[in-house]
Amino acid sequence: MSDWFSVRDRSILVTGGGGGLGRMISAAFLGAGARVTITGRKAAALDSAAEALAPLGPIETLCGDLREPVAAAELARAYRATGRPLDVLINNAGRTWGEPLATFPHSAWTDVMGVNVTAPFVLVQELLPLLTAGASASRPACVINIGSVYAHLTDVMHSYSYAASKAAIHQLTRVLARELAPRHVLVNAIAPGLFHTRMTDFVFSNEAPRARALAGIPLGRAGAAEDIGGLTVFLASRAGAYLTGTVLTLDGGMSLSQ
Ligand SMILES: NC(=O)c1ccc[n+]([C@@H]2O[C@H](COP(=O)([O-])OP(=O)(O)OC[C@H]3O[C@@H](n4cnc5c(N)ncnc54)[C@H](OP(=O)(O)O)[C@@H]3O)[C@@H](O)[C@H]2O)c1
Repeated sequence: MSDWFSVRDRSILVTGGGGGLGRMISAAFLGAGARVTITGRKAAALDSAAEALAPLGPIETLCGDLREPVAAAELARAYRATGRPLDVLINNAGRTWGEPLATFPHSAWTDVMGVNVTAPFVLVQELLPLLTAGASASRPACVINIGSVYAHLTDVMHSYSYAASKAAIHQLTRVLARELAPRHVLVNAIAPGLFHTRMTDFVFSNEAPRARALAGIPLGRAGAAEDIGGLTVFLASRAGAYLTGTVLTLDGGMSLSQ
């Protein structure tokens, strides 16, 4: 049993790994002995995140914006050019936009879809040769897509494109899981509920919305680094090797009451 949860020496790529959930995930893999590459838009922010994480283990950075498919393909090419293997791709980078229906801008539809759905698809396309290269039945490669409970909730605070993008990434997860299973690539998604990050800071920075949000979570708290880190490491370990095409809800029971 000692090896069941091991990800030691596995190579992990975490998009948006410099902050928020991506940083929690990256820290968990580094702490478990994996080698991690994090991506982000700004070199300076990425370097300072990498510096903070470096005491945990070997970490590298790659800079790039994922809004446009060509840029996602370019990022994948840059990863391939490093010569590093790839065992686990974590499509974590995401953006959101909330605005009433009448004024919701078209750009907030295309940008959100670009980062949350198109980029994960392009990264899988472009990195598949690397993922399959080291994969076998006993040691499958993994794609882990970070979705959201907003894929199935309807009270989504005017984040129309975000909710639609998360439903899309959940379905893409199932479609790719079926196609890639024979090539020993597992594809799963995690649907987080509420975690305190830059994306949700507006909830936590005011007492009333914070109290309202926490009241809607049966376990009575927001998600923590151990929750997202533990689940992603599990999915990438031997213990998770019989799961593919699943969407794992990680929300403290938030979806139960809505
Ligand atoms: N927080 C929650 O409660 C929650 C709940 C459900 C799902 N999620 C999902 O969790 C994932 C991480 O979000 P978070 O909560 O950690 O928010 P966050 O702190 O705002 O992080 C978002 C990450 O995505 C990256 N990103 C955003 N736009 C990008 C772009 N155009 N190109 C490349 N990278 C871009 C950011 O990179 P930079 O370093 O360049 O800014 C950042 O690292 C997202 O997919 C989000 O939808 C979060």
